[in-house]
Amino acid sequence: MTTTDLPQSLLPTLPGRHYTDPGIFAREQERIFETEWFCAVRSADLAAPGDFETVQIGRESVLLARGRDQRLRAFLNVCRHRGARLCTEETGSVKRAFQCMYHAWTYGLDGKLIAAPNLTGMPDVDRTEYGLTALALREWLGYAWVCLAEEPPSFEDTVMADVSARLGGPGEIEAYGIEGLELGRRIEYDVRANWKQIIENFMECYHCATIHPELTEVLPEFADGYAAQYYVGHGAEFGEQIAGFTVDGSAGVDRLPGVGAHQDRRYYAITVRPQVFVNLVPDHVILHRMFPLAPDRTLVRCDWLYLPEVVGSGVDLSRSVELFHRVNQQDFEACERCQLAMGSRGYARGGVLVPSEHHIGLFHDWVRGRLGEQP
Ligand code: FES
Ligand code: FE
Repeated sequence: MTTTDLPQSLLPTLPGRHYTDPGIFAREQERIFETEWFCAVRSADLAAPGDFETVQIGRESVLLARGRDQRLRAFLNVCRHRGARLCTEETGSVKRAFQCMYHAWTYGLDGKLIAAPNLTGMPDVDRTEYGLTALALREWLGYAWVCLAEEPPSFEDTVMADVSARLGGPGEIEAYGIEGLELGRRIEYDVRANWKQIIENFMECYHCATIHPELTEVLPEFADGYAAQYYVGHGAEFGEQIAGFTVDGSAGVDRLPGVGAHQDRRYYAITVRPQVFVNLVPDHVILHRMFPLAPDRTLVRCDWLYLPEVVGSGVDLSRSVELFHRVNQQDFEACERCQLAMGSRGYARGGVLVPSEHHIGLFHDWVRGRLGEQP
């Protein structure tokens, strides 16, 4: 679809309560984040057996751990005895098992119950039946995606299809070799805004001319409010004087070897429902993961990924990182500004989308469909 397929009028947005109502947020947690594939951790962050991380997915705490067989697994972070939260740290490493602090039930890295002390004289505890609750996990682009649904949707038809639709075909993202890249920098943003504000903002570029002076310098077409990611196959071109995707337009670092001629000197921005943004430029990839924590609070983890030899060389990445760090700060400040008004009578019936924002309406339809509401 292109913008010409959409009406050239104003379209309504979601009403304000969709950004503040705890009941709507709970339904989104249940019907979106606990149902879809959710990008949870970067696989390389859990490199060694025993490495673990806990993340919030919907209303659940999820424990991811690397097994002795090198496999990454995901479990509900709940002790099967009396329900104590098994692991309270965000990240760490255990030798060979997780032990519950309450009565010391002990689970292997594969989730099996391996010990339950002082059970003599008590009925046998079935070690398999009382293992941790395992969740579906797929690794792609160097990240572990988890699905809490009993019957997960097809990963290919959801996550991978979202990416190839935005890039104008399957295989385009492979050119960037993302799974082979290394973390150059990670910045975490605690954003006081509803998760949908952040997606809506990322989907449009109407705001670029107003709040992104550095980005529009590098990508001059954004100064016209061009909604780059909506144009299938469209990558915004660097300005003529621009040497690289850096805060001052100076040269970047070594180019990713697989990037094709048609992808060179271009910027692609992809929204992967429900909580990932991927930005592709010739010398690095920026991947955002959102963790919706409350109706008005979303944690965003942003990774800047480069060739391993670039990270290993110790070259200065600050100008490269600074460009999108500023964009993030500018965007999140705007999202927080909108969030302040979502409970106002002045927004009770919502606002409007101008034609270059109309594709946000498709996102709203998707959300409403998930919530069982009439679009
Ligand atoms: Fe975990 Fe009892 S609640 S061992
Ligand atoms: Fe922006």
